[in-house]
Amino acid sequence: MSGRIPKHFIDDLLTRVDIVDLIDSHVPLKKTGANYVARCPFHSEKTPSFSVNRNKQFFHCFGCGASGNAIGFLMDFSHLDFVEAVEDLATFAGVDVVREAVDFKGTTQKPENISDQYQLLEQVAAYYVKCLRTDEAGKKAVSYLKSRGVNDDCAKEFMLGYAPDEWQALANRFDQNQLIQAGLLIDKDGRAYDRFRGRVMYPIRDKRGRIVGFGGRVLDDSMPKYLNSPETPVFQKGKEVYGLFELLRKEAKPKRILIVEGYMDVIALAGSGIHYSVATLGTATSQAHLDLLFRFSSELVFCFDGDKAGRDAAWRAMESAFGALKDGRQVRIMLLPQNHDPDSLVREEGAEGFAERVQQSQPLSDYFFSTLASDLKLDEMEGRSQLINKAKPYLERLPLSVFRDMMFVRLNELTRSSLLDVSGNPARLNPKSIGNRPHERRLPSLPRLIIALLVQHPELISKVEQKEIIWDGLEFSGIQLFRDILAVVLRIKPANTAVLLEHYRNHPDEKIIKDLASLGLLTSGQNVEAEGVENEFSDALDRLLAQAREACLDGLLAKGKDNGLNQDEKELLRKLLVIKHSGAI
Ligand code: GTP
Ligand code: MN
Repeated sequence: MSGRIPKHFIDDLLTRVDIVDLIDSHVPLKKTGANYVARCPFHSEKTPSFSVNRNKQFFHCFGCGASGNAIGFLMDFSHLDFVEAVEDLATFAGVDVVREAVDFKGTTQKPENISDQYQLLEQVAAYYVKCLRTDEAGKKAVSYLKSRGVNDDCAKEFMLGYAPDEWQALANRFDQNQLIQAGLLIDKDGRAYDRFRGRVMYPIRDKRGRIVGFGGRVLDDSMPKYLNSPETPVFQKGKEVYGLFELLRKEAKPKRILIVEGYMDVIALAGSGIHYSVATLGTATSQAHLDLLFRFSSELVFCFDGDKAGRDAAWRAMESAFGALKDGRQVRIMLLPQNHDPDSLVREEGAEGFAERVQQSQPLSDYFFSTLASDLKLDEMEGRSQLINKAKPYLERLPLSVFRDMMFVRLNELTRSSLLDVSGNPARLNPKSIGNRPHERRLPSLPRLIIALLVQHPELISKVEQKEIIWDGLEFSGIQLFRDILAVVLRIKPANTAVLLEHYRNHPDEKIIKDLASLGLLTSGQNVEAEGVENEFSDALDRLLAQAREACLDGLLAKGKDNGLNQDEKELLRKLLVIKHSGAI
């Protein structure tokens, strides 16, 4: 596999490209004042609220709250993962992606082998199809598929094949080393033989349609029922789902995606007209799966058997969903009647009946609270406090969002607790604030304004350095965030907001930094003019520091009267008095 892309390359790329040109090539922009605007590509709207700022190299939509730098735009707009977006951006900038050298730990693999792998997998899939369709032995598999109700169109669509019941069918036809690398040949003591024998073959394709591995099912009751390709450089089970390419080919932006457990479930559903399902590959649903699927649809429906194992799996899947639940993303849970899987159910009830059940699936919030509360007595105080204790650790994992606020409000309602502080963050629980975002227009507080200016103009760091601030004893809201950002800016010296934002990708503060990057872009009137920025920032910071010092001084003087000051405190008091009397602020 190829090496990591170095951080400096990404920062250089973000400095080199112009986000205005990039976005304009996807969504034509119009210049208004300092910004470029368009109708937002991420939600439907009549008047433009999507705005791109050249200085900050940052986009933001006031309607839906989408925001980010050039990489974020490509990830969202073209449904790319991070590396793909960097590659696309590099292509746009006309440069080659630089990668760190990697140690292949003794394997002979080189990066250029990857494309050979894809080619081999494609050829093997075609060979399996040929075996199914033209070989005598394939007839058994055809009649098996027929007996399971798989029609010819469906078999073609999913490129189903048959692996002959032989030890050397592939080994005799393709390059053995390549087969071993692709996991198709098992190499035991120098004797290599085919992994898949006498099985119906399901090629697994990535979202672009490249075959990355196979599943294979026996035609009878022998064990193991399914075999899957092992993980290889091109196949990671925790990242791929079965049926996604086939789904996207029919509908690029499905309203919802149904996540089921089996290959045959996906195929039976598609054959019945429900084309929007995918299956995990015999592994638990991971957050990587969910992030992948959420790129194509905002609603995921987990479909599990109604038995104990299915309910356990549903709970685990829901747990992994918690970290992925940003605003606008929805998860629903659908538990099937006993002794059914989607395959058997859709055959019994037809597509309409099945779709009806999908409609009636439970929202994650209902499922979450009803499952947690199922063995608690909420009419007793003990039960209610147990619910708070059980729910809190989950809810705290939700990304900051209106959804998170609402889950906490719901917990408060269920437990009839007037504790606004269950989230440890009272302001966010104020019901009045819900629904105001992302249109929030309250005036920024002084610290918020200062931090936002720094995020939007990282070069202001020089002003902060000039002030040689003594931080001891100072407190104001957001001080930790401010100091964290100062440290980051000093260290990476970002050329613009986009580079700074990139540093915060997947960081717990990412959302806050993005919000600060959009602050004040709302109306050009609120936007501080470029020349005024330095003075505005400097004055605001002086005022804030003066307030904080004054508060610290008051605190020390009061303490001095009551119980005396220790040596450090006396020293601090002395320094503060010097600053105050020197007239400096
Ligand atoms: P059938 O309808 O019997 O063909 O299977 P299914 O698609 O309904 O699968 P099932 O519900 O039995 O299992 C769900 C998924 O788990 C399968 O699609 C496989 O990915 C995986 N799986 C099931 N059995 C095995 C097995 O024996 N070995 C491995 N590795 N995976 C399995
Ligand atoms: Mn089944």
